Amino acid sequence: MTSSNHLIVNKSDPLIGKIQIPGDKSISHRSIILGSLSEGQLKVSNFLTSADCIATVNAMRQLGADITMDGNQVLIRGNGLYGLKKPSDVIDAGNSGTLIRLLSGILAAQDFNSSITGDESLKKRPMARVIKPLVSCGASIESDDCKAPLKIIGSKSLSSISYNQDIASAQVKSCLMMSALYIEEESTFYEKTPTRDHTENLLEHLNYKIYRNNNSSSFKGGQKLIAKDIVIGSDISSASFFIVAGLILKDSYVEFSNVNINKYRTGILSVLKQMGAQIEISNVHKISNEYVGDIKVKYSKLKPINISGEIIPSLIDELPILFIACSAASGVSKISGIEELRYKESDRIKAMENGLKAIGIKVSSTQDSIEITGGKIIGGKIDSYDDHRIAMSFAVAGLISETSLIIMNTKNIATSFPNFITTLKDLGGEVYEI
Ligand code: S3P
Repeated sequence: MTSSNHLIVNKSDPLIGKIQIPGDKSISHRSIILGSLSEGQLKVSNFLTSADCIATVNAMRQLGADITMDGNQVLIRGNGLYGLKKPSDVIDAGNSGTLIRLLSGILAAQDFNSSITGDESLKKRPMARVIKPLVSCGASIESDDCKAPLKIIGSKSLSSISYNQDIASAQVKSCLMMSALYIEEESTFYEKTPTRDHTENLLEHLNYKIYRNNNSSSFKGGQKLIAKDIVIGSDISSASFFIVAGLILKDSYVEFSNVNINKYRTGILSVLKQMGAQIEISNVHKISNEYVGDIKVKYSKLKPINISGEIIPSLIDELPILFIACSAASGVSKISGIEELRYKESDRIKAMENGLKAIGIKVSSTQDSIEITGGKIIGGKIDSYDDHRIAMSFAVAGLISETSLIIMNTKNIATSFPNFITTLKDLGGEVYEI
């Protein structure tokens, strides 16, 4: 573990090679949570050993789960749906919105009270989106202004959930699905704009009966989750940093294998292709009820784009790196309907706008949109706002920067992609930790 917290990235030679991206973050969280609620023993392979997902392991251990980690393999001896114990201390979700939101759904339905909190960034993020629907089905949650820490008064008598999407959020949907596991009557979930369905896929993998059609799903609580090994594909959000790096750095050619390509996560690939990116997907197959495939990218001359609407949730975490692709494209790109980006680990519209301006790119924004004029990245110093995806996006920008690009506060990269810097160095990127 290094104590450096800043990066210098210089213009680099082409990135050429095949890289292994770590396991998907969303599925890693869900594997630990649902694995702990299942009956029997299961092994999770290619688990993401990042700070966020380790916070989930610790949280479930605090609730009595028997979890053993060996590198990126995790062994869980599930205690069943009703096997959780009252934690003796406050649960710490660290930087993870997924953990606090999904776990709140479970904690609201227990026969004990509990408290959950997080780091400074998490304590600023909106929790009303989960508190309100949980309370409307009988849950009791105390907080200051609907922000963490949350004190959750468990209740065994929640009423069935009829979820009608307000914000397109897989975390909100999944939080309510977690509660619904404990509600005997049927709960239904309707999404106007579909979001990642990893919770649904994993429940099915663990033999849980769900009725699904295009935009909705329903299930009864109290069914058994049957332990079954889980193999996790590589995280497309993490891969995207290297996909864009390969596209914008002249003569690059990068290959990835076994990347999770859940259809609600691949918006980034469609949009980059619209921009003229040479991206090839092959060897598509299913593992543990999720699609994975191999991806090859070649340096490409990118055109600007204009996107909004339903595509946004399918690339929500990839928007910062997409903005870097737009900065390297030949014209003005406009991305609208992205207000949600202001409520992530940082206000990502503000963080990207300030950073891009500092390195010579013309940008303007409104509350829910951004306009980026492609041009020369001249280099300079930017702040990551302690946000992993902002730090990694600017590290990629540094690869084509005229002068050095200095990125401040990059420790947080470890929340989602601990070996990002090593992977970048291995591929030939000129990057220094300071
Ligand atoms: C996630 C859903 C998304 C995403 C986050 C992970 C998940 O959040 O940004 O990184 O695992 O369900 P929202 O549901 O808030 O959009």
